[in-house]
Amino acid sequence: MKILFYDTKNYDRESFNDSLKEYPDLSVEYTKSDLDPRTAALAEGFDAVCAFVSSDIGTRTLEILHAKGIKLLLMRCAGFNNVDLQTAGKYGIRVMRVPGYSPEAVAEHAMALALASNRRLHKAYNKVRENDFSLSGLMGFNFYQKTAGIIGTGKIGAAMCHICHGFGMKVLAYDQYQNPSVKDFVEYVSLEQVLSDSDVISLHCPLTDATYHMINIETIRKMKDGVILVNTSRGALVKTDDLIEGIRMHKFAGVGLDVYEEETNNVFEDRSDEILEHSTTARLLSFPNVMITSHQGFFTREALEAIAATTLQNAEAFLSGKDSPNDVK
Ligand code: NAI
Repeated sequence: MKILFYDTKNYDRESFNDSLKEYPDLSVEYTKSDLDPRTAALAEGFDAVCAFVSSDIGTRTLEILHAKGIKLLLMRCAGFNNVDLQTAGKYGIRVMRVPGYSPEAVAEHAMALALASNRRLHKAYNKVRENDFSLSGLMGFNFYQKTAGIIGTGKIGAAMCHICHGFGMKVLAYDQYQNPSVKDFVEYVSLEQVLSDSDVISLHCPLTDATYHMINIETIRKMKDGVILVNTSRGALVKTDDLIEGIRMHKFAGVGLDVYEEETNNVFEDRSDEILEHSTTARLLSFPNVMITSHQGFFTREALEAIAATTLQNAEAFLSGKDSPNDVK
């Protein structure tokens, strides 16, 4: 089976080439282009395509992929909010993903953002480089004995609960389903209570109609003053303009974002030479208590190995006509 891998960087090729040795039935070509309506036609002559978080896999892209005979869409990520599943279903294109490649990779990054924004490590690093050894503007608070509020306790949220518990924090959580792996030390409460009682709030639920803009000015007003907010999940969980209003109201001690609404054109690209017009990201970065990273939560050696292994297993499951828990319907 021939698979075209879109939006690939050197590290993708390395991790997939290592794993491909075990899959003689699969042949792979890589392109740097991301999958969208302009690039979908590149899939001519392939049986399957593999895409990533920023690909635009809406109706038009799927129509073109279908016309090119594509039967399988391999998402080499957990989220699939960028795929029009209804159209994929209509054309019989099977969609598979990598549901949990290394939850700890993302959870550890979420904690890194919480700590870094709390202690202003992004500022401290630059100050010391300029021989400014003063501590002004760097004061944070102890996480020990404070309250963490975890929204979404699936694989990554549960890993974050464990980390917060290890820090000696009280852990509150909100989810429609209670995860038995954390029930011994996590108290499930309403969303309102997570918002009002937590010192550190971390988002770990997927982007759906129900979670779109769940952090908005109303929910921000319900948070404690001096809260830390971390989003490593999906940008559109947070309404950016309202977040900016909240920051200006001095609501937040720190904000750590690995994802944000405007990220699509930025993710994994070097745009340092460009003038970014109308950029709310730039506005966010102007605040001293905001730290942004570029969707790197997943980016550990262990996670890349697991992504490659599961994506190729998914391709094998397709070849052998087997059902898989990694199917997205
Ligand atoms: P998961 O499917 O294991 O857990 C998601 C949890 O969210 C489930 O327990 C579900 O019940 C809960 N949930 C769904 N709707 C909810 C709502 N309205 N309110 C509260 N909880 C709700 O997913 P996993 O693997 O933990 O990933 C979570 C998210 O992290 C993904 O959807 C993805 O968007 C993001 N992610 C980010 C990465 C990064 O590099 N920054 C890498 C991987 C995933």
